[in-house]
Amino acid sequence: MQLLIDIHQTETMRTILLFISVSLAVSAVYSLDNGLARTPPMGWNPWVRFRCTVDCVNDPENCIREELFMEMADIVASEGYKDAGYEFINMDDCWMSKQRDAQGILQPDPQRFPSGIKALADYVHSKGLKFGLYQDMGTETCDGYPGIWGHIETDAKTYAEWGVDYVKMDGCHNLGPTLFGEGFVNMTRALNETKRPIVFSCEWGFDMRAHNPNYTDIALHCNSMRQYNDVQDSWDQVINILNWYTWEQQVMSQVNGPGNFIDMDFIVVGDFALSFEQAQSQFALWSIMSSALLMSSDLRKMDPKMKEILLNREVIAINQDKLGKMGLMIYSKSPYEVWAKELDNDCFAAVIFSKATDMPHNFTVTMTMLGYPKLPYAVRDVINHKDLGTFVKDKPLSLKVNPSGVRMFKAVPSKKKGFKVY
Ligand code: GLA
Repeated sequence: MQLLIDIHQTETMRTILLFISVSLAVSAVYSLDNGLARTPPMGWNPWVRFRCTVDCVNDPENCIREELFMEMADIVASEGYKDAGYEFINMDDCWMSKQRDAQGILQPDPQRFPSGIKALADYVHSKGLKFGLYQDMGTETCDGYPGIWGHIETDAKTYAEWGVDYVKMDGCHNLGPTLFGEGFVNMTRALNETKRPIVFSCEWGFDMRAHNPNYTDIALHCNSMRQYNDVQDSWDQVINILNWYTWEQQVMSQVNGPGNFIDMDFIVVGDFALSFEQAQSQFALWSIMSSALLMSSDLRKMDPKMKEILLNREVIAINQDKLGKMGLMIYSKSPYEVWAKELDNDCFAAVIFSKATDMPHNFTVTMTMLGYPKLPYAVRDVINHKDLGTFVKDKPLSLKVNPSGVRMFKAVPSKKKGFKVY
């Protein structure tokens, strides 16, 4: 089946175009001004794959302990992930001891982190990577470890002394919207006062979603913004997250940009649930939407085809584009959805996503329908690493898309010298 798009046909389309024009009129001027996260943060986090596994006797391989983070740092540094841009080795919940020490200083679990957090951070740094940890803007973390409430300045100082480069702040067991918000503002200040560059990743928007969060305020205080529910090792949940950020794209694109990017939650490529096509889709969609790219999988057992998805530098370059624009959905008519993202140097990228459940179909786009009607563009398939030719105005570009799969391309004005994709 060949489908030619008439973008004026559907009500959905008109609404989406309206959203886009509003978004483009208001540029992303709000940002946490600590000079960090000029492009979406990239790295690894254990949460989806390893959760709160603390029984190192019976399950040493999956246990949250210093060896796990060291092994992941080794792999990220030696197997091409670092070269592709992955930079942070982050801890999530369950790294702490249940008690602070007599001075109120956070402690790691002594059995699982006997060398201490500073030594672990030093190890990660020795691999040319950066180190992150997890805390919670409440009385306890989601899994019942000490929260930061009442200890903001002390903990910020402790992180800096340990050599932490990234802090993820969760929102379980919080004391209500007002104190919660004040806590994040105070934390931003406390981190800045340490003078150590520390990326601040906030679940402020997510945990306050029922209270109409002020996303502008969040963007002013956070480098990375988790605004929606947790990803699971599940295609349905990947789609739920995608739908939410797309539904909110007008608001999100106004607060997203260099210094403060959305975090659509972890990349579950290489875990158990996603097929190859679905894995490709999650990676392409998270990339075009300028989300943080934090893998949460067992890198020791990564399937080579999944690894190829995670290491696709042409896709990553679209995520890491220095303009920092969020890709926007510009077309939706079942079973297809199309996103376009403005890139540096007058280029743009697009993703065609198929929710078809029968078989691969051809889908046709034109430069005009993608919102770029003026120039001829050299188009390159960034997933299959192939030049597709030059397209201008309404010249059709027809691409076969697999069920649950994507096609993704970059378009470069063809008069520009030295056509270079990344
Ligand atoms: C929340 C967060 C997750 C993870 C867990 C840990 O659910 O959203 O990303 O950090 O807590 O308990």
